[in-house]
Amino acid sequence: MSALLNLKNLNAYYGAAHILHDLSLHVNAGERVALIGRNGVGKTTVVNTILGLATLREGTVGLDGKSYTKLRAYMAAQHGMAVVPQGRCIVANLSVEENLLLGAAVGRKGPWSVKEIYKLFPILEERAHTPGTALSGGQQQMLAVGRALMANPSLILLDEPTEGLAPVIVDQLAVIFNQVADQGTALLLIEQNMSLVVRVAERYLAMAKGAVVAQGRVENSRECLHDLESHVMV
Ligand SMILES: Nc1ncnc2c1ncn2[C@@H]1O[C@H](COP(=O)(O)OP(=O)(O)OP(=O)(O)O)[C@@H](O)[C@H]1O
Ligand SMILES: [Mg+2]
Repeated sequence: MSALLNLKNLNAYYGAAHILHDLSLHVNAGERVALIGRNGVGKTTVVNTILGLATLREGTVGLDGKSYTKLRAYMAAQHGMAVVPQGRCIVANLSVEENLLLGAAVGRKGPWSVKEIYKLFPILEERAHTPGTALSGGQQQMLAVGRALMANPSLILLDEPTEGLAPVIVDQLAVIFNQVADQGTALLLIEQNMSLVVRVAERYLAMAKGAVVAQGRVENSRECLHDLESHVMV
């Protein structure tokens, strides 16, 4: 079986700044993988490289079995990948429902529709005709997750989806992420909240200075939580 996402020896740059150093990572169908590390280690740059927003000078990005060296944002979408970007990127002058519909633009068939997203997040139905950015932070994050699901992805890249959210919202999102993964969608969860990682992920990679420095299995245990926290503590 080939991986849905297969990053091999990536060396990625912003201009002359060399950010990713020989980074390799793969996610198989249905897997729940966490990518962890402190601020500024290059986690978002991994996403940006997949989307062609950082310059890939060496290495290859494998998307659903095809290998690329020149990336464009639409490619990941066409290969069944959806991104929940860091900071959410909700479109301010579109309503909640219009923001959701944006996610369906890629035109992939699958189980997700506006109706299904509203079942998952009833608050979004209540606020359907409100401007997306009028929602609270937690609700905007639900909208960003809903918008990604609207693409009927086989893999979702979640870039710090719980950043700045109250613990009660983090708990709700943990349940949702598990529910989505239980339905067969693979997750690449970029996180600094290790209590979320142990609840959702089965495998992790830890980054430092643009490289993978540790990896292993994740268990929902105190020992594992402690071990993972050592990779994100400042
Ligand atoms: N557009 C850019 N141009 C130049 N350098 C950048 C750019 N974006 C990020 N960087 C630098 O690249 C490095 C990696 O940044 P990146 O955003 O990938 O880190 P991160 O692990 O996602 O951090 P955080 O946890 O704070 O989101 C940092 O040193 C950052 O300053
Ligand atoms: Mg980041």
